[in-house]
Amino acid sequence: MHYTVLVVDHDEEARVELVEALVMRGLKVVSCDNFDDACDYILSDGTIHAVLSEWNLPRTSQSEKWVKGLEIFKKFLGLRFELSLFLYTCVSDTKDLTSGGIINGYFLKDEKVYDDIVRKIQAEIGEKNHAPFYEKLVRYALKAKDSWHTPGHASGNSVKYSPYAKDFYEFFGENLFLSDVSVSVPELDSLLHPEGVIKESQELASRAFNSRYTFFSTNGTSTSNKILIQSLLKPGDAILLDRNCHKSVHYGVIIAGAEPLYLMPSVNNKYGIFGPIPKKRIIESMDDAIAKGKKLKALILTNCTYDGLIYDIEDIVNEAHKRDIKVIVDEAWFGYAIFHHKFYPSAMAAGADYSTQSTHKTMSAFSQASMIHVNDPDFENIEDLFQENFNMHSSTSPQYPMIASLDVATRQMVMEGYSLLQRVLELSDKLRESINSLKKFRVLEKEDLINPELKDDDIRLDPTKITIDVSKSGMTSKQIEHLLLSKHNIQIEKSTFNTITILLTIGATYSRINRLYLALENIEKHSGNRKVSGQDKIMKDFQLTISPIRYRPRFAFYAENEELPLRLAQDRIASRMVTPYPPGIPLLVPGQLITKDIINVLNTYRDYGVEIHGMEGSLVKVVTEEEENILNEEGFGIQD
Ligand SMILES: Cc1ncc(COP(=O)(O)O)c(C=O)c1O
Repeated sequence: MHYTVLVVDHDEEARVELVEALVMRGLKVVSCDNFDDACDYILSDGTIHAVLSEWNLPRTSQSEKWVKGLEIFKKFLGLRFELSLFLYTCVSDTKDLTSGGIINGYFLKDEKVYDDIVRKIQAEIGEKNHAPFYEKLVRYALKAKDSWHTPGHASGNSVKYSPYAKDFYEFFGENLFLSDVSVSVPELDSLLHPEGVIKESQELASRAFNSRYTFFSTNGTSTSNKILIQSLLKPGDAILLDRNCHKSVHYGVIIAGAEPLYLMPSVNNKYGIFGPIPKKRIIESMDDAIAKGKKLKALILTNCTYDGLIYDIEDIVNEAHKRDIKVIVDEAWFGYAIFHHKFYPSAMAAGADYSTQSTHKTMSAFSQASMIHVNDPDFENIEDLFQENFNMHSSTSPQYPMIASLDVATRQMVMEGYSLLQRVLELSDKLRESINSLKKFRVLEKEDLINPELKDDDIRLDPTKITIDVSKSGMTSKQIEHLLLSKHNIQIEKSTFNTITILLTIGATYSRINRLYLALENIEKHSGNRKVSGQDKIMKDFQLTISPIRYRPRFAFYAENEELPLRLAQDRIASRMVTPYPPGIPLLVPGQLITKDIINVLNTYRDYGVEIHGMEGSLVKVVTEEEENILNEEGFGIQD
């Protein structure tokens, strides 16, 4: 196993003796005699996983100032949360020691129990470097068993000899079929009622991600969001949500029968980018909703945003908690935040009640693999509801390799997440520098991305998300996207009208970033002096228009509806979501009033050939007038 132990002690004799004893017993050890050097070691050597430290340390070798007790250990964890910390001290009286639950073991120096120390460290790291479900699945898959249960391919037997399906078997390989088993195998536990090895894996993930509980979810964060919203909100309860949130949140609101209170995000019209919601607006909206007597139960925010803008989440969580509002953070794009201090704090560390993460988007899990992290001190009050909702949205035949991938992604991030992310950050710097050396492409900085109303909100930019301004290239972002794919075999993450965004993940390499740079250089060279028409106009017309919600989305969704040409739909109520791509944000959700402004914006999008989901040609679905009357008579209308 590859890891290093850091020994920190100002007492040279004791330190040298301990280092020798550990090395003799096979551990790899580095050591120092002061606090600052220890911090440097922790930040520069990602292989350090265990720290043995004295209770008091001088700040530097020569310093008169000492760093004392728990402060040392908190600071170490503040640098790398995944470290295992052990106290190796001459302080014997436990009343002088408080650990705050963060110290993993205690050894009294005078006792010189070196065998014990090694055993404890090995056990601790062994547990972290462990993916119980994956390991058990492999053992099970490799047993020469006859399966008389689902899945029907019976470990691949139905396809491996078939002239029509053999290629399928050969492409995916034997191991995928051997490990694609089902709930009929009790020793592999049940995702819907974990009591064995899946529970064990979830507990390890919970420790890694700093939650009270963690749940593996196998239908993406789309499902994780719906499960949480449906668990926290009863019909009629209200939720504050970003108008720019992922559509799964809107669907969650429909399913729960909740009343959505939309928060307008900041909009950067120059680049067509939706940013965070100003902090002031969030706080005022909470107060406003409470003043109006809304049954406000939760706030859900996306952190970081698709474009990598990071909220000052801790402050917002505190404000919500002061008002007894639960906070869900959609960390679909930010699951790795706990593994590198540049991204701290993760939602869990910031005290949020719930977080949903697409482990598959930014870490090594298979597509659809997601996690729900729970920190809510009141979770036990809704636990049974949560379990029911989890079951309601989950297949009774989950994909076992997907569960295993969550297990392994966790193990990998705990063991090498810090080093991998450090490398990604270096690659990001390098890529920014090379793109900015081109004439027609420029990487946008935080100041370009946010608008002035966010200037006091302590917003940060995640450097692993790189948005490139392509407006000087004379081409549309779609043309560049097409060239990158067709000519250079490079697939980007997303585009707006004049930007493209790429995502650097832990799988990035120097070769990859250099290939991207060379491709952009090539495009620049061949772009000549051409100008693109229409871009400026669409950017000018581009705006997020909002109108009131007149009925709870659930009522409008299930109401009788009819199809009308958009031009005749003014003052009617949308019964389906209408979403232009880009930017992929619903302009209409069920229950929303269709105004002249919204019709104008949709027409502009259509004129420019933007793909619009939720409209058939020029037809849009609206609630019938009879149904509107019924909803009003029954008192289901919502007043502003
Ligand atoms: C902010 C946000 N939340 C949730 C999701 C859904 O995640 P998943 O693809 O894991 O279902 C996405 C997907 O793009 C997203 O951008």
